[in-house]
Amino acid sequence: MIQKIILDCDPGHDDAIAMMLAWGNPNIDLLAVTTVVGNQTLEKVSRNALAVAEMANIHGIPFAKGCPRPLVREIENAPTIHGDSGMDGPLLPEPTMQFEDIHAVNLIIDLIMSHPEKTITLVPTGGLTNIAMAARLEPRIIERVKEVVLMGGGYHTGNWSAVAEFNIKIDPEAAHIVFNAGWKVTMVGLDLTHQALATPDVIARFSSLQSKPGQFVVELLAFFGKMYKQAQGFDAPPVHDACAVAYVIDPTLIEVQQVPVNIELTGTHTLGMTVADFRYPIKPCHTWVAKKLDKERFWDLVIESVKNL
Ligand code: BDR
Ligand code: CA
Repeated sequence: MIQKIILDCDPGHDDAIAMMLAWGNPNIDLLAVTTVVGNQTLEKVSRNALAVAEMANIHGIPFAKGCPRPLVREIENAPTIHGDSGMDGPLLPEPTMQFEDIHAVNLIIDLIMSHPEKTITLVPTGGLTNIAMAARLEPRIIERVKEVVLMGGGYHTGNWSAVAEFNIKIDPEAAHIVFNAGWKVTMVGLDLTHQALATPDVIARFSSLQSKPGQFVVELLAFFGKMYKQAQGFDAPPVHDACAVAYVIDPTLIEVQQVPVNIELTGTHTLGMTVADFRYPIKPCHTWVAKKLDKERFWDLVIESVKNL
């Protein structure tokens, strides 16, 4: 079955691969790409989104820029992971595509309101500012969306603090709104994405595609890998954001569990933590957490989709 998605992202090396997966896979109907401040400033990540569109030959769909800062907090970017441009490494192609003259939040609302109910999945792979704003501006979207499958959080570890993950930590108030809105939320967090490591054999498979998009992914992963080693001691970089798109394409790739999740908004050492309550896994709730990845089939899917570009 073909899934309609809106990808809300902050490219970002792994966001770029998520975009390429979404566009290259025949089971995804990518309705729009929206951008949000995160890995770098809104201007930088937006420019990167257009560069990825150019590289992946994404066309005929709207791109829209969203929020330039989090709801409450000051801007926090991630140059230690993504470099000064937000997507350092490959030479970025000059974009030919342009942004629509509409705010991402309005585009998200318009698309959801103009499509039949429960047909659109929101896939946020950055901070949740745009999605929270959309839910507040037009609450009817909450009922109409099929589900929200987001990359963010984690129930046993963090990467931006001991217990908080970057996408949630940079805008915890927005995350609070999204996790408590009432729509179905699947949290594809670090517990899962740290299983999606781009090891040398995976990189070799992208290289053997002998295509421009394949080579682009190789160059993205070379830089991303270097930074992940330096900043977090990883031997291979986790390609977080692609996991959320992969789950929408094929839910059998990822084992999930229904469990209440809440966002820590006041902790001194725990701000932005996604607190999953495994004591009551059967308590009624609308949040699910991703637990286990079928790595082989995941990489087959991503590589096949990049091959299709
Ligand atoms: C998340 O943070 C960003 O740096 C990545 O693009 C990913 O969305 C991982 O914590
Ligand atoms: Ca991201």
